[in-house]
Amino acid sequence: GKGAAMVTAVAYRLAAQHAERQRILDTLRLSREKLLEVKRRMSEEMARGLSKLTHEEASVKMLPTFVRSTPDGTEHGDYLALDLGGSTFRVLLVRLRSEKGHNVDMHHKIYSIPQEIMQGTGDELFGHIVCCIGDFLEYMGMKGASIPMGFTFSFPCHQSKLDQGILLNWTKGFKASGCEGQDVLTLLKDAVRRRQDFDLNFVALVNDTVGTMMTCSYEDPQCEVGLIVGTGTNACFMEEMQNIELVEGDHGRMCVNMEWGAFGDKGELDDFCTEFDRVVDNSSNNPGKQRYEKMISGMYLGEIVRNVLIDFTNKGLLFRGKLSERLKTRCIFETKFLAQIESDRLAMRQIRSILQHLGLTTSTCDDSVLVKEVCRVVSSRAAQLCGAGLAAVVDKIRENRNLNQLSITVGVDGTLYKTHPHFSSIMQETLQDLAPQCQVTFNKSEDGSGKGAALITAVACRMKSEGQP
Ligand code: GLC
Repeated sequence: GKGAAMVTAVAYRLAAQHAERQRILDTLRLSREKLLEVKRRMSEEMARGLSKLTHEEASVKMLPTFVRSTPDGTEHGDYLALDLGGSTFRVLLVRLRSEKGHNVDMHHKIYSIPQEIMQGTGDELFGHIVCCIGDFLEYMGMKGASIPMGFTFSFPCHQSKLDQGILLNWTKGFKASGCEGQDVLTLLKDAVRRRQDFDLNFVALVNDTVGTMMTCSYEDPQCEVGLIVGTGTNACFMEEMQNIELVEGDHGRMCVNMEWGAFGDKGELDDFCTEFDRVVDNSSNNPGKQRYEKMISGMYLGEIVRNVLIDFTNKGLLFRGKLSERLKTRCIFETKFLAQIESDRLAMRQIRSILQHLGLTTSTCDDSVLVKEVCRVVSSRAAQLCGAGLAAVVDKIRENRNLNQLSITVGVDGTLYKTHPHFSSIMQETLQDLAPQCQVTFNKSEDGSGKGAALITAVACRMKSEGQP
């Protein structure tokens, strides 16, 4: 009768809604073929970035770092390190003692960089940094000492030696004016001079990936790749000098800062992007730039999720079709929420309370299930894309060395990688599938970027004292 017809109609509508949601989520799912294609295009861009002829137009810049040797364990002494480019700014004092094995003693202080300063003028930014260094030296009772310093500066820099680097462009949330095209250490030295309070002895400018790799290789000589999956994403690895056309010399290896976050900026990812990626890109600080990073890293994943949820709501598939002000607010889903929502230990009721905490009053249990599924699809895609890029890297190293099988370690840092419950395992699965001839071990680095800058500084000081170039 009538009742049965109504039940049928409801069931039909629910099935249609389910199909509609899946159709949308499918646009965010990548097949094995597609991932292989991502790997292939990444390999291609890497070659283009390394070659003199194509470097200018390549999206993946493959920047020489002038880091050529890894620590040999004899490094010792006190070093200062600065770390700028993630969620906080840190000043560190690193004490290396070579006698007692790999003994590293660290003191650090964390300083915040207010949004106004991040997006103000370069003078303000570097003035603020110098102010923090002054505070740290005061706090450690070290003002007046001229300690060699390494600066971990996690942005693309064109280097022609270790203690120099021209900022190509800001990435992530930074956009202080007057810095792009300038030598970062000169900007910092000028700010020190303006303050007329203390002197500093700058030895090295270091990308965070490079610092992470170095820290890890201090313990494990097989570590020749560095990976960051945090606010942004990037990788570095030891490349053969003969392949680095931008630097004279054919001997040995040099670490290359890939700046792979910019992969896709020449359209290489257009086939895999969704409407959500385009919205996130368009409403970012740097539209059209860092397209790969925007599909992978912590600063953007939450935004992708939010845009999917908005679309679902607009189509009446979520939150009873009611779009709250809260959901319209940018950046409400931080990395830690994604990590929490996807935790397997969480009951649906807890997910609901997380969403409520975010101001998203989910009316039904189904809503929570769906939100979790959206998070899962978005973070899995990120991990797979990252694995595909890494597959290109390790296979290149293997081919460089003419090996059938390569065993290698990747040093990793970054909050998304470290706190997300599934990111690392999905990434590793993808990597193994796409680069089966490589046995890759992942090593989480503790405090990698800061410690690494100190190690690089120490190696440079040791080589200088040994009279090597
Ligand atoms: C961005 C920066 C890059 C850095 C990465 C991780 O991609 O451009 O230099 O390594 O973020 O912090």
